Amino acid sequence: MPSFTASAPGKIILFGEHAVVYGQPAIAAPVAQVRATATVTPELRGNAGAVRILAPGIGLDRRLDELDSTHALVAAIEGVTASLGISRLPACTLKVTSTIPVASGLGSGAAVSVAVIRALAGFLGHPLPDEQVSALAFEVEKIHHGTPSGIDNTVVAYAKPVYFIKQQLIETFSISKPFTIVIGDTGIATPTKETVGDVHAGWQADPQRYETLFAAVGSITRSARQAIEQGRPDRLGPLMNESHALLVEMGVSSPELDKLVRAANEAGASGAKLSGGGRGGNMIALAAPEQAEQIAATLQAAGAVRMLVTEVKG
Ligand code: MEV
Repeated sequence: MPSFTASAPGKIILFGEHAVVYGQPAIAAPVAQVRATATVTPELRGNAGAVRILAPGIGLDRRLDELDSTHALVAAIEGVTASLGISRLPACTLKVTSTIPVASGLGSGAAVSVAVIRALAGFLGHPLPDEQVSALAFEVEKIHHGTPSGIDNTVVAYAKPVYFIKQQLIETFSISKPFTIVIGDTGIATPTKETVGDVHAGWQADPQRYETLFAAVGSITRSARQAIEQGRPDRLGPLMNESHALLVEMGVSSPELDKLVRAANEAGASGAKLSGGGRGGNMIALAAPEQAEQIAATLQAAGAVRMLVTEVKG
């Protein structure tokens, strides 16, 4: 059994975060510049079932049987073995590395799960289709997020832009004209579970107010899809600004995110918003390609600890 490596990209939510948990549509795109990678290597002298897990980025070097069954890596491994009907893994080492910042809205948890699921299934000689990889990663997402919509595992597993509605078949859609997004990281790690939980508490306390906000986000997302399909990405800027204002109303922004969004707009972006769970993590700005570097420099001056420039294309 030769070793097997798989990787998965990060992601940004362009429109619809949080509202997507409540049944509204959302649009997400992969970010290929950051990736999670998993390699499974056979240990020829090891006993069956002896699985070593290495994740140097988080200082993890343990045997599989030493980890709790609620550990995300264990859940990903057990998802694969259960679906392939394998009771005991051959002796092997699973190594996980990632360049995706953790708890920053870039889908690090989903990308690690997808890479691990693909690498292990491939190592076992049973590569899985994207749909099944996504479904297994969704089960792991429940550990990370509590009540995930499923958008992160979907965009990361399919590695293409998606128009996503919870519990519906995924829709890929045409991007008639590519567009450039600058991503700025506040450097503040905020688990998605936390903001999803806060929005849930807000919705329980005042369902009418939150349903109105979710519906407004949903209508923006539908307009954004139209603009993208009609080759009018220039129309996305104002929609991003409106989205950010609604996310502020939902209570998932922060002074740091607001500052970066303002700075991007002042530097000439056509619009900007937080992306993902919020509170900390990343924001995105729509830029003309020739402006992207300037906007990235402005974000850095305004406190961003990391910037990425990515092109959203079909
Ligand atoms: C996280 O990337 C997006 C959220 O809408 C949560 C989810 O959809 O599961 C905040």
